[in-house]
Amino acid sequence: MAAKHLFFSLTLIAFLCVSASAEAETVSPQDPGLVFNFYKDSCPQAEDIIREQVKLLYKRHKNTAFSWLRNIFHDCAVESCDASLLLDSTRRSLSEKETDRSFGLRNFRYLDTIKEAVERECPGVVSCADILVLSGREGIAALGGPYIPLKTGRRDGRKSRAEILEQYLPDHNESMTVVLERFSKMGIDTPGLVALLGSHSVGRTHCVKLVHRLYPEVDPAINPSHIGHMLHKCPDPIPDPKAVQYVRNDRGTPMILDNNYYRNILDNKGLLLVDHQLATDKRTKPYVKKMAKSQDYFFKEFSRAITILTENNPLTGDKGEIRLQCSAVNRH
Ligand code: HEM
Ligand SMILES: *[C@@H]1O[C@H](CO)[C@@H](O)[C@H](O)[C@H]1NC(C)=O
Repeated sequence: MAAKHLFFSLTLIAFLCVSASAEAETVSPQDPGLVFNFYKDSCPQAEDIIREQVKLLYKRHKNTAFSWLRNIFHDCAVESCDASLLLDSTRRSLSEKETDRSFGLRNFRYLDTIKEAVERECPGVVSCADILVLSGREGIAALGGPYIPLKTGRRDGRKSRAEILEQYLPDHNESMTVVLERFSKMGIDTPGLVALLGSHSVGRTHCVKLVHRLYPEVDPAINPSHIGHMLHKCPDPIPDPKAVQYVRNDRGTPMILDNNYYRNILDNKGLLLVDHQLATDKRTKPYVKKMAKSQDYFFKEFSRAITILTENNPLTGDKGEIRLQCSAVNRH
Protein backbone atom coordinates (compact mmCIF):
# COMPACT_ATOMS: atom_id res chain seq x y z
CA MET A 1 0.00 0.00 0.00
CA ALA A 2 2.76 2.41 1.05
CA ALA A 3 4.83 1.40 -2.00
CA LYS A 4 1.91 2.00 -4.28
CA HIS A 5 1.37 5.38 -2.65
CA LEU A 6 5.05 6.26 -3.06
CA PHE A 7 5.00 5.22 -6.70
CA PHE A 8 1.96 7.37 -7.29
CA SER A 9 3.57 10.39 -5.60
CA LEU A 10 6.77 10.01 -7.58
CA THR A 11 4.88 9.79 -10.85
CA LEU A 12 2.93 12.87 -9.87
CA ILE A 13 6.10 14.79 -8.98
CA ALA A 14 7.77 13.74 -12.23
CA PHE A 15 4.70 14.84 -14.15
CA LEU A 16 4.63 18.21 -12.39
CA CYS A 17 8.32 18.78 -13.13
CA VAL A 18 7.90 17.99 -16.79
CA SER A 19 4.89 20.23 -17.18
CA ALA A 20 6.52 23.02 -15.18
CA SER A 21 9.59 22.96 -17.38
CA ALA A 22 7.47 22.92 -20.53
CA GLU A 23 5.62 25.89 -19.16
CA ALA A 24 8.85 27.70 -18.31
CA GLU A 25 9.74 27.99 -21.96
CA THR A 26 6.87 30.34 -22.59
CA VAL A 27 5.85 31.65 -19.18
CA SER A 28 8.17 32.21 -16.23
CA PRO A 29 8.46 34.81 -13.46
CA GLN A 30 11.00 36.64 -15.65
CA ASP A 31 8.75 36.44 -18.70
CA PRO A 32 5.04 36.40 -18.00
CA GLY A 33 4.40 37.09 -21.71
CA LEU A 34 1.69 39.62 -22.45
CA VAL A 35 -0.60 40.33 -19.50
CA PHE A 36 -3.26 42.85 -18.62
CA ASN A 37 -1.83 45.91 -16.88
CA PHE A 38 1.79 44.84 -17.23
CA TYR A 39 2.94 48.21 -15.84
CA LYS A 40 0.78 48.14 -12.69
CA ASP A 41 3.85 48.22 -10.41
CA SER A 42 6.49 49.80 -12.66
CA CYS A 43 4.35 52.62 -14.08
CA PRO A 44 0.76 52.47 -12.86
CA GLN A 45 -0.20 55.68 -14.68
CA ALA A 46 1.09 54.48 -18.08
CA GLU A 47 -2.25 53.62 -19.67
CA ASP A 48 -3.90 56.79 -18.31
CA ILE A 49 -1.10 59.00 -19.64
CA ILE A 50 -1.41 57.44 -23.10
CA ARG A 51 -5.20 57.84 -23.03
CA GLU A 52 -4.89 61.48 -21.96
CA GLN A 53 -2.28 62.28 -24.62
CA VAL A 54 -4.30 60.64 -27.39
CA LYS A 55 -7.33 62.70 -26.35
CA LEU A 56 -5.34 65.95 -26.30
CA LEU A 57 -3.80 65.28 -29.70
CA TYR A 58 -7.14 64.21 -31.12
CA LYS A 59 -8.66 67.53 -30.10
CA ARG A 60 -6.02 69.38 -32.10
CA HIS A 61 -5.59 66.98 -35.03
CA LYS A 62 -8.42 64.52 -35.63
CA ASN A 63 -6.38 62.58 -38.16
CA THR A 64 -3.89 61.43 -35.50
CA ALA A 65 -6.46 58.78 -34.56
CA PHE A 66 -6.38 57.32 -38.10
CA SER A 67 -2.63 57.01 -37.80
CA TRP A 68 -2.72 55.23 -34.44
CA LEU A 69 -5.12 52.69 -35.90
CA ARG A 70 -3.19 52.17 -39.11
CA ASN A 71 0.08 51.82 -37.18
CA ILE A 72 -1.25 48.68 -35.52
CA PHE A 73 -1.59 47.01 -38.90
CA HIS A 74 1.72 48.20 -40.30
CA ASP A 75 3.71 47.27 -37.21
CA CYS A 76 2.02 44.11 -35.97
CA ALA A 77 1.35 42.42 -39.32
CA VAL A 78 5.03 42.54 -40.26
CA GLU A 79 6.32 39.60 -38.19
CA SER A 80 5.91 41.18 -34.77
CA CYS A 81 4.37 44.01 -32.76
CA ASP A 82 7.78 45.39 -31.86
CA ALA A 83 7.63 49.04 -32.98
CA SER A 84 10.04 48.33 -35.84
CA LEU A 85 7.69 50.54 -37.88
CA LEU A 86 8.75 53.59 -35.89
CA LEU A 87 12.50 53.36 -36.59
CA ASP A 88 14.05 56.00 -38.80
CA SER A 89 16.41 55.06 -41.62
CA THR A 90 20.06 54.82 -40.68
CA ARG A 91 23.15 54.76 -42.85
CA ARG A 92 22.91 50.99 -42.83
CA SER A 93 19.20 50.33 -43.10
CA LEU A 94 16.10 51.69 -44.76
CA SER A 95 13.18 52.37 -42.44
CA GLU A 96 9.84 50.61 -42.90
CA LYS A 97 8.25 54.05 -42.98
CA GLU A 98 10.06 54.87 -46.22
CA THR A 99 8.82 51.88 -48.21
CA ASP A 100 6.05 52.13 -50.80
CA ARG A 101 3.57 50.13 -48.69
CA SER A 102 3.88 52.73 -45.94
CA PHE A 103 2.74 55.46 -48.29
CA GLY A 104 0.55 57.98 -46.48
CA LEU A 105 1.51 56.98 -42.94
CA ARG A 106 1.70 60.18 -40.93
CA ASN A 107 1.82 61.82 -37.50
CA PHE A 108 4.87 59.96 -36.20
CA ARG A 109 6.10 63.08 -34.44
CA TYR A 110 2.97 63.07 -32.30
CA LEU A 111 3.75 59.54 -31.25
CA ASP A 112 6.98 60.99 -29.87
CA THR A 113 4.83 63.46 -27.94
CA ILE A 114 3.05 60.54 -26.27
CA LYS A 115 6.32 58.75 -25.58
CA GLU A 116 7.82 61.90 -24.03
CA ALA A 117 4.83 62.29 -21.71
CA VAL A 118 5.23 58.67 -20.58
CA GLU A 119 9.00 59.08 -20.16
CA ARG A 120 8.51 62.13 -17.94
CA GLU A 121 6.59 59.97 -15.45
CA CYS A 122 8.41 56.66 -15.83
CA PRO A 123 11.73 56.94 -17.64
CA GLY A 124 12.85 53.85 -19.53
CA VAL A 125 9.94 51.63 -18.49
CA VAL A 126 7.22 51.61 -21.13
CA SER A 127 8.01 50.23 -24.59
CA CYS A 128 7.25 52.02 -27.84
CA ALA A 129 5.57 48.81 -28.99
CA ASP A 130 3.03 49.07 -26.14
CA ILE A 131 2.60 52.80 -26.74
CA LEU A 132 1.90 52.09 -30.41
CA VAL A 133 -0.70 49.44 -29.57
CA LEU A 134 -2.37 51.37 -26.73
CA SER A 135 -2.52 54.61 -28.72
CA GLY A 136 -4.21 52.52 -31.43
CA ARG A 137 -6.75 51.30 -28.90
CA GLU A 138 -7.43 54.87 -27.72
CA GLY A 139 -7.59 56.08 -31.32
CA ILE A 140 -10.25 53.49 -32.10
CA ALA A 141 -12.29 54.71 -29.13
CA ALA A 142 -11.86 58.38 -30.13
CA LEU A 143 -13.25 57.54 -33.57
CA GLY A 144 -16.39 56.07 -32.03
CA GLY A 145 -15.23 52.47 -32.23
CA PRO A 146 -15.32 49.90 -29.43
CA TYR A 147 -13.10 50.12 -26.34
CA ILE A 148 -10.86 47.06 -26.50
CA PRO A 149 -9.09 45.71 -23.38
CA LEU A 150 -5.55 44.87 -24.48
CA LYS A 151 -2.61 43.18 -22.82
CA THR A 152 0.81 44.81 -22.47
CA GLY A 153 4.41 43.76 -21.92
CA ARG A 154 5.67 44.06 -25.50
CA ARG A 155 9.30 45.06 -25.93
CA ASP A 156 10.93 46.97 -28.75
CA GLY A 157 12.81 45.36 -31.60
CA ARG A 158 16.25 46.44 -32.72
CA LYS A 159 15.90 46.10 -36.47
CA SER A 160 13.91 47.42 -39.39
CA ARG A 161 12.00 44.89 -41.48
CA ALA A 162 11.78 47.08 -44.56
CA GLU A 163 13.26 44.42 -46.84
CA ILE A 164 10.62 41.78 -46.03
CA LEU A 165 7.65 44.07 -45.45
CA GLU A 166 6.03 43.34 -48.82
CA GLN A 167 5.74 39.66 -47.95
CA TYR A 168 3.42 40.64 -45.11
CA LEU A 169 1.54 43.79 -46.10
CA PRO A 170 -0.71 43.26 -49.11
CA ASP A 171 -0.74 45.86 -51.88
CA HIS A 172 -3.84 47.93 -52.64
CA ASN A 173 -4.70 45.61 -55.54
CA GLU A 174 -3.81 42.25 -53.93
CA SER A 175 -6.05 39.27 -54.64
CA MET A 176 -8.41 38.20 -51.88
CA THR A 177 -6.80 34.75 -51.86
CA VAL A 178 -3.44 36.23 -50.92
CA VAL A 179 -4.99 38.64 -48.41
CA LEU A 180 -6.93 35.85 -46.66
CA GLU A 181 -3.84 33.67 -46.56
CA ARG A 182 -1.65 36.35 -45.01
CA PHE A 183 -4.14 37.15 -42.29
CA SER A 184 -4.81 33.51 -41.57
CA LYS A 185 -1.09 33.01 -40.93
CA MET A 186 -1.51 35.47 -38.05
CA GLY A 187 -4.52 33.55 -36.76
CA ILE A 188 -7.06 35.99 -38.18
CA ASP A 189 -10.00 34.26 -39.87
CA THR A 190 -12.30 35.53 -42.62
CA PRO A 191 -14.74 37.51 -40.43
CA GLY A 192 -11.71 38.93 -38.58
CA LEU A 193 -10.19 40.18 -41.84
CA VAL A 194 -13.51 41.61 -43.00
CA ALA A 195 -13.84 43.46 -39.69
CA LEU A 196 -10.27 44.83 -39.79
CA LEU A 197 -10.76 46.27 -43.26
CA GLY A 198 -13.63 48.22 -41.71
CA SER A 199 -10.77 50.53 -40.63
CA HIS A 200 -11.13 51.95 -44.13
CA SER A 201 -14.26 53.58 -42.79
CA VAL A 202 -12.03 56.47 -41.72
CA GLY A 203 -9.19 58.42 -43.29
CA ARG A 204 -8.14 58.90 -46.85
CA THR A 205 -6.58 57.29 -49.90
CA HIS A 206 -4.17 59.20 -52.11
CA CYS A 207 -4.79 59.32 -55.83
CA VAL A 208 -1.64 57.31 -56.62
CA LYS A 209 -3.38 54.25 -55.16
CA LEU A 210 -6.56 54.92 -57.15
CA VAL A 211 -5.69 56.26 -60.59
CA HIS A 212 -5.32 52.76 -62.04
CA ARG A 213 -9.07 52.38 -61.46
CA LEU A 214 -9.82 55.67 -63.24
CA TYR A 215 -7.38 55.90 -66.16
CA PRO A 216 -7.10 55.15 -69.04
CA GLU A 217 -10.66 53.90 -68.51
CA VAL A 218 -12.85 54.01 -65.47
CA ASP A 219 -13.21 50.58 -63.85
CA PRO A 220 -16.79 49.58 -64.77
CA ALA A 221 -17.19 48.08 -61.30
CA ILE A 222 -17.25 51.55 -59.71
CA ASN A 223 -20.70 52.92 -58.94
CA PRO A 224 -21.41 55.54 -61.66
CA SER A 225 -22.65 57.99 -59.02
CA HIS A 226 -19.21 57.86 -57.33
CA ILE A 227 -17.11 58.33 -60.47
CA GLY A 228 -17.62 62.09 -60.81
CA HIS A 229 -16.41 62.63 -57.27
CA MET A 230 -13.34 60.42 -57.74
CA LEU A 231 -12.39 62.09 -61.03
CA HIS A 232 -12.87 65.49 -59.44
CA LYS A 233 -10.53 64.58 -56.57
CA CYS A 234 -8.02 62.78 -58.82
CA PRO A 235 -7.97 64.79 -62.06
CA ASP A 236 -4.58 63.55 -63.29
CA PRO A 237 -3.70 60.05 -64.55
CA ILE A 238 -0.28 60.56 -63.02
CA PRO A 239 -0.80 62.50 -59.82
CA ASP A 240 1.72 65.18 -59.01
CA PRO A 241 3.65 63.61 -56.13
CA LYS A 242 3.91 66.99 -54.42
CA ALA A 243 0.23 67.83 -54.62
CA VAL A 244 -1.71 66.20 -51.79
CA GLN A 245 -4.56 64.71 -53.76
CA TYR A 246 -6.77 62.17 -52.10
CA VAL A 247 -10.30 60.83 -51.70
CA ARG A 248 -11.92 60.29 -48.32
CA ASN A 249 -12.46 56.60 -47.63
CA ASP A 250 -16.05 57.08 -46.46
CA ARG A 251 -17.73 60.19 -47.78
CA GLY A 252 -20.73 59.75 -45.49
CA THR A 253 -19.02 59.51 -42.08
CA PRO A 254 -15.30 60.05 -42.78
CA MET A 255 -14.37 60.69 -39.15
CA ILE A 256 -16.27 57.81 -37.57
CA LEU A 257 -15.30 54.17 -37.32
CA ASP A 258 -18.62 52.60 -38.17
CA ASN A 259 -20.19 50.00 -40.43
CA ASN A 260 -20.99 52.53 -43.15
CA TYR A 261 -17.88 51.17 -44.91
CA TYR A 262 -19.69 47.89 -45.57
CA ARG A 263 -22.72 49.63 -47.06
CA ASN A 264 -20.37 51.67 -49.25
CA ILE A 265 -18.50 48.68 -50.62
CA LEU A 266 -21.75 46.76 -51.24
CA ASP A 267 -22.82 49.86 -53.17
CA ASN A 268 -19.61 49.61 -55.30
CA LYS A 269 -18.13 52.71 -53.69
CA GLY A 270 -15.05 51.00 -52.31
CA LEU A 271 -11.91 52.93 -53.22
CA LEU A 272 -9.15 50.33 -53.21
CA LEU A 273 -9.42 47.20 -55.27
CA VAL A 274 -9.17 45.15 -52.05
CA ASP A 275 -12.12 47.04 -50.60
CA HIS A 276 -14.15 46.31 -53.70
CA GLN A 277 -13.16 42.65 -53.74
CA LEU A 278 -14.15 42.27 -50.10
CA ALA A 279 -17.74 42.99 -51.12
CA THR A 280 -17.71 40.74 -54.18
CA ASP A 281 -15.62 37.70 -53.22
CA LYS A 282 -17.77 34.70 -52.27
CA ARG A 283 -15.71 34.02 -49.15
CA THR A 284 -15.98 37.51 -47.66
CA LYS A 285 -19.28 38.88 -48.98
CA PRO A 286 -21.53 37.11 -46.43
CA TYR A 287 -19.63 38.78 -43.57
CA VAL A 288 -19.67 42.14 -45.35
CA LYS A 289 -23.46 41.90 -45.53
CA LYS A 290 -23.73 40.91 -41.90
CA MET A 291 -21.50 43.79 -40.77
CA ALA A 292 -23.39 46.24 -42.98
CA LYS A 293 -26.54 45.25 -41.08
CA SER A 294 -25.12 45.09 -37.58
CA GLN A 295 -22.70 47.53 -36.03
CA ASP A 296 -22.61 45.28 -32.94
CA TYR A 297 -21.43 42.33 -34.98
CA PHE A 298 -18.82 44.51 -36.71
CA PHE A 299 -17.51 45.80 -33.36
CA LYS A 300 -17.44 42.32 -31.84
CA GLU A 301 -15.40 40.87 -34.70
CA PHE A 302 -13.25 44.00 -34.94
CA SER A 303 -12.33 43.81 -31.23
CA ARG A 304 -11.50 40.13 -31.52
CA ALA A 305 -9.32 40.66 -34.60
CA ILE A 306 -7.49 43.70 -33.17
CA THR A 307 -6.69 41.61 -30.08
CA ILE A 308 -5.17 38.84 -32.20
CA LEU A 309 -3.30 41.31 -34.41
CA THR A 310 -1.80 43.16 -31.44
CA GLU A 311 -0.65 39.88 -29.90
CA ASN A 312 1.17 38.79 -33.04
CA ASN A 313 4.52 37.37 -32.05
CA PRO A 314 5.59 40.00 -29.50
CA LEU A 315 9.02 40.31 -27.91
CA THR A 316 8.58 39.78 -24.17
CA GLY A 317 10.64 39.08 -21.06
CA ASP A 318 14.26 40.03 -21.69
CA LYS A 319 14.02 40.01 -25.49
CA GLY A 320 14.47 43.30 -27.31
CA GLU A 321 14.71 46.49 -25.29
CA ILE A 322 12.75 49.48 -23.99
CA ARG A 323 13.62 52.16 -26.49
CA LEU A 324 14.29 55.60 -25.02
CA GLN A 325 13.28 57.24 -28.27
CA CYS A 326 10.80 55.51 -30.54
CA SER A 327 12.55 56.46 -33.77
CA ALA A 328 15.94 54.92 -32.93
CA VAL A 329 17.32 51.84 -31.20
CA ASN A 330 19.20 52.43 -27.95
CA ARG A 331 22.95 52.85 -28.13
CA HIS A 332 25.00 50.35 -26.18
C1 HEM B 1 -5.38 44.13 -47.35
C2 HEM B 1 -5.07 44.92 -46.39
C3 HEM B 1 -4.90 46.41 -46.51
C4 HEM B 1 -4.48 47.17 -47.58
C5 HEM B 1 -4.05 46.70 -48.95
C6 HEM B 1 -4.51 48.54 -47.14
C7 HEM B 1 -4.13 49.62 -47.92
C8 HEM B 1 -4.32 50.95 -47.59
C9 HEM B 1 -4.04 52.07 -48.44
C10 HEM B 1 -3.45 51.97 -49.85
C11 HEM B 1 -4.39 53.20 -47.77
C12 HEM B 1 -4.30 54.63 -48.28
C13 HEM B 1 -3.07 55.33 -47.77
C14 HEM B 1 -2.94 56.73 -48.34
O1 HEM B 1 -3.10 56.87 -49.55
O2 HEM B 1 -2.67 57.66 -47.55
C15 HEM B 1 -4.90 52.79 -46.48
C16 HEM B 1 -5.37 53.66 -45.52
C17 HEM B 1 -5.71 53.26 -44.23
N1 HEM B 1 -5.65 51.98 -43.73
FE1 HEM B 1 -5.34 50.30 -44.80
N2 HEM B 1 -4.94 48.60 -45.85
C18 HEM B 1 -5.19 47.31 -45.43
C19 HEM B 1 -5.60 46.94 -44.17
C20 HEM B 1 -5.74 47.78 -43.11
C21 HEM B 1 -5.92 47.38 -41.75
C22 HEM B 1 -5.97 45.92 -41.28
C23 HEM B 1 -6.01 48.51 -40.99
C24 HEM B 1 -6.19 48.68 -39.50
C25 HEM B 1 -6.11 47.73 -38.61
C26 HEM B 1 -5.92 49.63 -41.91
C27 HEM B 1 -6.03 50.96 -41.54
C28 HEM B 1 -6.01 52.02 -42.42
C29 HEM B 1 -6.35 53.39 -42.04
C30 HEM B 1 -6.84 53.87 -40.68
C31 HEM B 1 -6.16 54.17 -43.19
C32 HEM B 1 -6.35 55.70 -43.30
C33 HEM B 1 -5.06 56.38 -42.98
C34 HEM B 1 -5.05 57.90 -42.98
O3 HEM B 1 -6.00 58.52 -43.44
O4 HEM B 1 -4.04 58.45 -42.50
N3 HEM B 1 -5.73 49.16 -43.17
N4 HEM B 1 -4.83 51.41 -46.38
C1 LIG C 1 -0.77 46.60 -58.39
O1 LIG C 1 -0.48 47.96 -58.59
C2 LIG C 1 0.88 48.27 -58.74
C3 LIG C 1 1.02 49.78 -58.85
O2 LIG C 1 0.63 50.38 -57.63
C4 LIG C 1 1.43 47.55 -59.98
O3 LIG C 1 2.81 47.81 -60.12
C5 LIG C 1 1.19 46.05 -59.83
O4 LIG C 1 1.58 45.38 -61.01
C6 LIG C 1 -0.27 45.75 -59.55
N1 LIG C 1 -0.43 44.35 -59.22
C7 LIG C 1 -1.43 43.59 -59.68
C8 LIG C 1 -1.49 42.20 -59.16
O5 LIG C 1 -2.24 44.00 -60.47
